Amino acid sequence: MSTAVATIAQPKIQHTECFIDGQWRPAMSGRTFETINPATEEVICEVAEGDKADIDAAVKAARHAFDNGPWSKMDARERGKIMFRLADLIEDEIDDLAALETLDNGKPIRESRFADLPLVLDCLRYYAGYADKIHGSTIPIRGNYFTYTRREAVGVAGQIIPWNFPMLMTAWKWGPALASGCTIVMKPAEQTPLSCLRLAQLAKDAGVPDGVVNVVPGYGPTAGGSLVKHPGVDKIAFTGEHRTAQIIMRDAAESLKRLTFELGGKSPNVVLADANLEKAAQGAYVGLFLNQGQCCCAGSRVFVEKRAHDEFMDKLTKLTKNRKLGNPFSMDTEQGPQIDRAQFDKIMKYIELGNIDGAKCVSGGERFGDTGYFVQPTVFDGVTDSMAIAQDEIFGPVMSVLTFEDWDDLIQRANNTFYGLAAAVWTRDITRAHDFARRVRAGTVWVNCYDVFDAAAPFGGFKMSGHGRELGEEGLKAYTESKTVTISLDA
Ligand code: NAI
Ligand code: MG
Repeated sequence: MSTAVATIAQPKIQHTECFIDGQWRPAMSGRTFETINPATEEVICEVAEGDKADIDAAVKAARHAFDNGPWSKMDARERGKIMFRLADLIEDEIDDLAALETLDNGKPIRESRFADLPLVLDCLRYYAGYADKIHGSTIPIRGNYFTYTRREAVGVAGQIIPWNFPMLMTAWKWGPALASGCTIVMKPAEQTPLSCLRLAQLAKDAGVPDGVVNVVPGYGPTAGGSLVKHPGVDKIAFTGEHRTAQIIMRDAAESLKRLTFELGGKSPNVVLADANLEKAAQGAYVGLFLNQGQCCCAGSRVFVEKRAHDEFMDKLTKLTKNRKLGNPFSMDTEQGPQIDRAQFDKIMKYIELGNIDGAKCVSGGERFGDTGYFVQPTVFDGVTDSMAIAQDEIFGPVMSVLTFEDWDDLIQRANNTFYGLAAAVWTRDITRAHDFARRVRAGTVWVNCYDVFDAAAPFGGFKMSGHGRELGEEGLKAYTESKTVTISLDA
């Protein structure tokens, strides 16, 4: 590592307990679990291990806050103001929060500081501005009636998030819930509880009333499962693996909760020979390696038109071979460690499978260093559709490159997955671009770009990549119920 490069100081840890009804409390069982720094494999600290008893207390607080106000009954503009204040408090300590995220998650500081945190602020401010703009409509029905709809908060929202973007996922979930007047019980991922806990205190400091935001750290089947099954919860918003979503759907069946899911993907990133190959290679590189490959929308199947293959691969492998791995607190680090031992092992197993199946590893393929869960940026060339590395979500820095010649065949292959989260195409041919955008079965399509996110643009999946959308107006609607009111105008 270059010594001339700034290294950011490690943050101090302020909160490690459950945040329930505006108070910090240890888990009722007294149990704690370790959260690990994935770059060093060292324990950062112990965190309260919440389970059913803590979830019960948090739901009780959230239920009371929803049913009695003031949050749900507050002037909507006032709610918006408090949310803007929360965003301002986050901005005031943006460097510390970025450092906390990097410590717990391992992502490079320049990403947490300059990508994750700005998106957190955007999301909270976007929805803060929406708080006083949530309204129904008037509907001309048959007869002498006046009919209108109201959009009302869905109630207590149970929110379960993963570890890949801990703070951003918190903002995506809190933004629309708070704007619409819901109250919240959140369970952060067991790998990355720290930043979410800090945000809970900032919400309190901003004036969010007690009981409106509750955070219970803990494990999925215990804390998460109790939240999903709790009859006092109206809705579950979940981001994570599709297999977990299947369990959640079953667990939520008893109480018929509203469910929104944002799950995984095996997104096709298609490069036509007429594209700007420099940009396409850069887009494929970022689209897969961003966040150590731990992105639900990672462009993990790169389809390259055969006659552009060699030139594209030259450009791509130059990029991957120069990628800078190392201390995530160093400002010039581009790639940090994977989140934990389990993910590291899973990724290494897929690299092995790629080699066994006969794909050609043209870059990386091994562990980086001997401390921390680092994996070299890995590119497999000559991948075919049936290989495991072309079918399964690896959730790591492993790219599969496939080639194509026939356009209709390509579309069919791009859609040949049970996922449908994102897709991209690189071309100068406007007809091809539109044709792809229309025919690919995915919730987001990027043309000549990748990973462009905005709080105003809905995001979510077709098929087994999810239910419903987050962000934008659609994301807000998922936290509301529509109520139809009909008034007879006969005297
Ligand atoms: P996961 O889906 O098990 O975990 C996500 C969240 O769900 C965590 O907060 C976890 O504690 C919670 N959870 C787990 N089991 C639960 C249950 N029975 N009831 C309620 N909540 C539960 O994902 P995991 O195990 O961390 O990663 C496994 C794979 O999932 C990854 O390799 C990746 O392929 C995929 N994944 C996808 C993500 C995405 O953004 N789409 C994010 C994280 C993982
Ligand atoms: Mg799991």
